[in-house]
Amino acid sequence: MEDFRKSVVYQIYPKSFYDTNGDGLGDLNGVTEKLDYIKELGADYIWMTPFFVSPQKDNGYDVEDYYNIDPRYGTMEDFDRLSAEAQKRGIRLMLDMVFNHTSSRHEWFRKALAGDERYKNYYIFRKGKENGEPPTNWESKFGGSAWEYVPQFDEYYLHLFDVSQPDLNWDNPEVREQVEAVVRFWMKKGVKGFRFDVVNLISKGSFEDDAEGDGRRFYTDGPNIHKYLQELNEKTFGADRGIITVGEMSSTSMENCFRYASEDGKELSMVFSFHHLKVDFAGNEKWVLVPFDFQKLKKILFDWQSGMAEHHAWNAVFWCNHDQPRVVSRFGDEGKYWKQSAKMLGTAIHCLRGTPYVYQGEELGMTNTDFTDISQYRDVESINYYRILQERGLRPEDALRIIQIHSRDNGRTPMQWNAGENAGFTTAQPWIGVNVNHTAVNAEAELADEDSIFRHYQKLIRLRKELDVIAYGDFAPVDQKNPQVLAYRRSYEGHTLLVVNNFYGRPVKWTCPEDVNGFSCVLSNYPDSRTEKEMELRPFESMVLYR
Ligand code: GLC
Ligand code: CA
Repeated sequence: MEDFRKSVVYQIYPKSFYDTNGDGLGDLNGVTEKLDYIKELGADYIWMTPFFVSPQKDNGYDVEDYYNIDPRYGTMEDFDRLSAEAQKRGIRLMLDMVFNHTSSRHEWFRKALAGDERYKNYYIFRKGKENGEPPTNWESKFGGSAWEYVPQFDEYYLHLFDVSQPDLNWDNPEVREQVEAVVRFWMKKGVKGFRFDVVNLISKGSFEDDAEGDGRRFYTDGPNIHKYLQELNEKTFGADRGIITVGEMSSTSMENCFRYASEDGKELSMVFSFHHLKVDFAGNEKWVLVPFDFQKLKKILFDWQSGMAEHHAWNAVFWCNHDQPRVVSRFGDEGKYWKQSAKMLGTAIHCLRGTPYVYQGEELGMTNTDFTDISQYRDVESINYYRILQERGLRPEDALRIIQIHSRDNGRTPMQWNAGENAGFTTAQPWIGVNVNHTAVNAEAELADEDSIFRHYQKLIRLRKELDVIAYGDFAPVDQKNPQVLAYRRSYEGHTLLVVNNFYGRPVKWTCPEDVNGFSCVLSNYPDSRTEKEMELRPFESMVLYR
């Protein structure tokens, strides 16, 4: 079986990765051309966000045809070539499967709207309330009601995301069979990994008004969720132990994740959860400006580390993806301590118990966008909330400030390959603006510098392969209450790893809880870190001590 505990996954957002045919959009051939770069970094898998046929209302998370490649990204031949070239380099592909919903342009939904009962039952149609309101008060995750009225039926359909993303009815066995057929199709093509998009939302519970929230408690980790995942596993990827899977778990609970990602292998290999990234929200409300809560971040990360280990379940560990702001801007310092803080954040996540995911550009220390006008944004969620925030009474400049901090487009600006025009991403007008800081922050510069953030990530990936304690060790928090330091201990077969991270731009005194004798510093973000009982950690200083 593939040991995913020793592996690292590199995530690519193809649209923003590398454009080879001069249309301003990244493409599959662009990924193929850059395989050596990923090989150099040391990643084992490439997770690519969806490139299937799609109207691109949500950048491919609105799938119109699961069996074909969107011409904007290339052809099936391009995919096969990418797959073969990756395999030559020992890199495997992980595909992104969006099965909670389809695009409203999917053939199934078109037939449903045309009145074909068989296909209507692929989706979730309901009568409105007597008073003319939608069936429930649930809110779409992109803003507004989760229900869209269809006059010809005098009914509404459910869309937990955009109105162009109708939710599939997983309670219909035929839908489950269709989904299984898609997974088998890509397995036959040699795909060795699957990421399942918002997969814990597929089993809807009862359709009731939510007096307390936006409805998520009625459809998150729903009544048949484990049954459906087990069935999908049995009928598709479960037959091939070489396949790894990760579920994107929206607002999930740890108890459910024990089962989703249990070592017994009945459901998935691992899970993404997001609680540790909601530490700059106010509760579930993302569209506010609050400083991040460091103690909360630590507590959530550590609780999940301990909890999942205790229940023999496996985490995916990460800071960044295509839905998140850039971590160096979010929890680090994109100014004075850019390099130190980016490395520190990398270390903090990579030495945890779990499979690390690196999101394109994270290894370069890419930062949030420098957009100053709403017209520069492309993301449907950001554009919707810019309007909604003003409807709630905010001034345009204040709404924009919030978008600048939280927008998903922060993670979607083009990959910065070099200091040249459009950061070397495209020769045309890019579909979304390139950050001006590409003149300093780019792959070419990072590769030329032996002390770069890229080199640090490379070392972290290598270290996971070299030291079993990182892949297999137990986890224990260290000095958890410390107001500035995030530290933990990993232990395995007599070996110990101590990971110490100063999360702030000011020095802090730190007492090592262990006898430092016998420990050596195997990685640090300062050239001269010392291993002593009483230490003063410098701004964002980070150390990995091994015995
Ligand atoms: C997931 C994806 C996100 C998408 C949403 C709806 O959260 O990561 O990009 O918008 O699902 O498919
Ligand atoms: Ca292109």
